[in-house]
Amino acid sequence: MTSPAHPKRQDWRDAAIAAADTAARFIAHEAMSHRTLAWEEKSATDFVSRVDVGAEERIRDVLAARIPGIRMVGEELSADARPDDGLVAIVDPLDGTTNFLHGFPNYAVSICIALDGVPQAGVVHDVARGGVLYATASDGAFLDGSRLQVSTTTSPARALIGTGIPFKDVSQADRYLRQLRRLMPIISGVRRAGSAALDLSDVARGRFDGFWELFLNPWDLAAGVLLVREAGGRVTDLAGRDARLTGGPIVASNGILHDWFLDLLNDPDDTTTVPAPDPA
Ligand code: IPD
Ligand code: CA
Ligand code: CA
Repeated sequence: MTSPAHPKRQDWRDAAIAAADTAARFIAHEAMSHRTLAWEEKSATDFVSRVDVGAEERIRDVLAARIPGIRMVGEELSADARPDDGLVAIVDPLDGTTNFLHGFPNYAVSICIALDGVPQAGVVHDVARGGVLYATASDGAFLDGSRLQVSTTTSPARALIGTGIPFKDVSQADRYLRQLRRLMPIISGVRRAGSAALDLSDVARGRFDGFWELFLNPWDLAAGVLLVREAGGRVTDLAGRDARLTGGPIVASNGILHDWFLDLLNDPDDTTTVPAPDPA
């Protein structure tokens, strides 16, 4: 993810902001009647509604009109497409679907424009509370025009850490709970708010000092990874390798706490396997 920034990245950022805005308006309107929406089962405990699909259709239409030839990797309509080949929009039309369906006000639209596996522009639109976070490669990260900066926390005892609980893959539960047990007594607090895109945004804006989740998909993390990096933070896998758009385990921090955080999450006695990133 270190190749040079593309000269069109500002245009791509503006297109992503416009697409996210269109989707956010649609989601906000539908939120008024969320109690009457039909839930469709993706798996026994994972649900989706026509709002996720409708938001993704709107994003696809805006991006296709503004960035000719762009491919889409979208959670609902094109999840199997490759996120790291050519010019691609990596889209989570509604990150935090469970929150949305329950009327819990923490959900977002997340769009990343990437070129050959390198994020060029990213947008996370906080739908329920308002606020558009965006970044372009090498140009910094912003919230509604103000530059974002990760926290300067140096002491783990003062750290507030975000996380995602592995509710879809219970085979990760024991490993996750051991990590949580090691972390809990030595930090200031742990939060599980239910939208990985907003969790990463909270690291970028200095509300969280760190965040980890044992598995995320490309659309959950792509825009947020760029936001954190452009705000001065670090995002890796559990082995400390730069996070990639293909998904997998994610550890994000303000950079200062990163090595401490990795050491704590990696228990030398733990032999549980974590999904490996695509070697491509
Ligand atoms: C989920 C959220 C959640 C995270 C899950 C994701 P969705 O995305 O980001 O915080 O813990 O891993 O799948 O399903 O609401 O788009
Ligand atoms: Ca998601
Ligand atoms: Ca989603």
